[in-house]
Amino acid sequence: MVLYNNSMNKSPASADLAPLVPKNAARGLVVLGIETSCDETAAAIVTGNKDILAQSLISQKDHAAYGGVVPEVAARAHLTYLQDQIKSVMDDTQLTFSDLDAIAVTAGPGLIGGVLVGALMAKSIALVHNVPLIAVNHLEGHALTARLTDDAPFPFLLLLVSGGHCQILIVHGVGEYTRLGATIDDAVGEAFDKTAKMLGLGYPGGPAVEKMAARCTDVAAARARFSLPRPLVGQDSCDFSFSGLKTAVRRAIDALPAGDVSVQDAADICAAFQATVGDIIADRMTRAIDRYMGTNPARPTLVVAGGVAANQYLRGLLTELCAKRGLHFAAPPLKLCTDNAAMIAWAGIERAQLGMTDASDFPIYTRWPLDPDAVISSPKSQKT
Ligand code: KG4
Ligand code: ZN
Repeated sequence: MVLYNNSMNKSPASADLAPLVPKNAARGLVVLGIETSCDETAAAIVTGNKDILAQSLISQKDHAAYGGVVPEVAARAHLTYLQDQIKSVMDDTQLTFSDLDAIAVTAGPGLIGGVLVGALMAKSIALVHNVPLIAVNHLEGHALTARLTDDAPFPFLLLLVSGGHCQILIVHGVGEYTRLGATIDDAVGEAFDKTAKMLGLGYPGGPAVEKMAARCTDVAAARARFSLPRPLVGQDSCDFSFSGLKTAVRRAIDALPAGDVSVQDAADICAAFQATVGDIIADRMTRAIDRYMGTNPARPTLVVAGGVAANQYLRGLLTELCAKRGLHFAAPPLKLCTDNAAMIAWAGIERAQLGMTDASDFPIYTRWPLDPDAVISSPKSQKT
């Protein structure tokens, strides 16, 4: 086991504090964001006034045949698409690169080939046009999106649920996070994706499972039919576990009569699965709210972020929980829950406003936890 090097998480306390001054004071910093950490190739231009001036995003279809993202295929596809994505947002805004106040790019965590493509592109443009760079943690991009789209003053409680992550954090400020809990095995998005794959619903699995679950006419009956486990529910922690749930879905499918899974069966399994995930999240979040409100009673806000935050059932459940507990609930619009470049541009703006820009030799990371206390087995970074 290796304890992660905290210096990779620059926070205002450790940074040289000279806020970046916008070229145009009226609209604030104008930042080009670039996102290439998984299978979305995206560029966006966002202002300090919270205007998304332009966005361009390709969800790579190149992986359809494989039932999941293939890292090498993703990296090559980013290389093919990224230039056009950037050109598209520059054309839409009629800005030149020299008009930009900064370029913000995902520097990790993610698939290293894709992160490399985005980082090298950002560094090249920044060097040629003498524009400051900001290396953004993709997770911080998700974490701060609600501050672009909603009113979410620091501190707030964050549920971050995506394809690779599932954690509950207190967000004290830019670069300042305390982890209350996290998954001990699979991420919740991964559980959605694997359920979809087992049922042959395609990738990404989350939206497909949600759509199939909506075809179930009696969720209570579906849950009685397919009784799925709720790992860690009732235990006094804010951690998650989804691997047992995934295995139970596998067994439920295997127990069906031989032949193709009927639409009715698929709908019932998806509804039972989604409701069980809902139970797990509600239980964990109830405990997290207790802990958070114990120390931050004056800032009762819960933010949900990451691709799984696009799920309407889970959003509804969190809305209800917040109403019950007297918390303000902030969830970005669906298109800004899944990976996008506007969130990277915005996180860049928040950092630049605090003076946190980066040198052009910044490293990129396959793993990059938000919270400095995270213990992981093999930290990896690479200089570009
Ligand atoms: O944040 P994101 O776009 O990429 C990562 O950083 O991982 O999240 C992608 C994940 C995938 O696992 C996808 O299946 C899931 O978010 N997802 C959903 C929904 N939309 C996307 N899961 C459940 N319901 C959805 N509507
Ligand atoms: Zn993401």
